[in-house]
This record gives sequence, structure tokens and C-alpha cells, in this order.
Amino acid sequence: MENQARVAQPVDVDTDTLRKAIQDEYKEVAENPGKGFHFHTGRRLAGIVGYKDEWLTGISESAIESFAGTGNPFAMGELAAGEKVVDVGSGGGIDSLIAARMVGATGEVVGVDMTPEMLTKARGAAVESGIDNAEFREAYMEELPVPDGWADVLISNGVLNLTPDKQKVLREMFRVLRPGGRLQIGDIMVSREVPANAKQEIALWTG
Ligand SMILES: C[S@@+](CC[C@H](N)C(=O)[O-])C[C@H]1O[C@@H](n2cnc3c(N)ncnc32)[C@H](O)[C@@H]1O
Repeated sequence: MENQARVAQPVDVDTDTLRKAIQDEYKEVAENPGKGFHFHTGRRLAGIVGYKDEWLTGISESAIESFAGTGNPFAMGELAAGEKVVDVGSGGGIDSLIAARMVGATGEVVGVDMTPEMLTKARGAAVESGIDNAEFREAYMEELPVPDGWADVLISNGVLNLTPDKQKVLREMFRVLRPGGRLQIGDIMVSREVPANAKQEIALWTG
């Protein structure tokens, strides 16, 4: 068993209850980012996970203050001019806007999120940053509103850990990715099995 890859099995948790709790939490991150959370946020987090100052230059402070990722999708490589990008769980928009700058006027970015307050924030931040090659769509990551094979690159930051069915989301990611495209995901991994009773604990999911 030790060297065998383990596949995350779907967790039996009420999806509607979980989504509502996640939306309540990230509505606060959008509208009240200075409140203090049990995870890092904002510019301080960007420093911790290694975002370069040059990536943040010109990005609206409103997107930066609601940053709540768990890693750095650009640590795997910066994006190239002209690439089409999907940001799964785009939150306040920081990664989508950084990506939009990297891919330039000939590239396109689609951010997808289920929390209306995050979408409002991301759309406002795009305008404030003078970025017009990023758009934000309201949807679940389990059903991405993007055609098959559209994306050259799929980025995501701190979001995959929030779905009870990771295989379903990964299948959906591969559906929208063109053959030979790239996944650049920053997220949380555990090396030990999470106890079954902890998986039922909604409060443990949202943070
Ligand atoms: C930890 S935040 C990260 C946001 C952003 N990627 C960032 O790095 O700042 C998680 C985001 O995922 C979104 N989210 C969680 N579950 C989702 C789902 N099933 N479908 C779509 N979005 C989801 C939340 O609304 C929230 O904006």
C-alpha cells in the first residue's frame, strides 16, 4: 500500500449545507476582509506563498485584500501570451487578474465562483485594474461553464479542498482543458486519512 497512489473517495456530506456554509464564510472574506479569519488572507498571505511584487503591481487592492488561497499556482510557471485560462474558484479575483496580465491582450481568462459577493468583488477589481480580458462566471466547480477543450491552462488556489467529490472536479477540469494543456493548482494535501467524523464537521471544511 505504501507506494500506491491513493484516490480521494467522495465524502458523504450534505452538499447544499456545505456550499451554504462556504458561501457564508467567503462572503465575509469579500465584504469584510479585515475581520480576521483562522486562515491567512490578503497581501500578507501573498507574501507568505511567494507572490512576486511585480505580479501585484497595478492589481486593485480590493482583489488583493480578499486573497484567500492556500498556495501559488504561478510557482509552477508563469503563463504565456495568448493563453486561454480558467481560474476555478476565482474568489476576489487576484489570480485571474494576475493571469490576465500574464497572457496579455491576445489571451483570455474565465474566473468561476459560486459566491455572488466574490464575483461582485472580482468584477469590480477587474475594472479598477483596467483589465478587460478577464470575465467572471457564477457556477459550481463541479459543472464548469466552459466548453470542452477550451483552456490551455487551468489554475486554482485553495478550492479543490472545498469539494466533497475531488475526482468529479478533476474530471471536469480535464474536460475543459485542451489535450496537452496544464493544470497549475495550489491547494492543501494531507498525508494521513482524515477521520470519518471530522469529514462530517462542516466547520472544518470552511476554513
Ligand atoms: C479559499 S477561497 C480561494 C479564492 C481564490 N482562489 C483565492 O486564491 O483567493 C475559495 C473560493 O472557492 C469558492 N468555492 C468553494 N466551493 C465552490 C464550488 N463548489 N464551486 C464554485 N466555487 C466554489 C468560494 O466561493 C471561494 O471564493
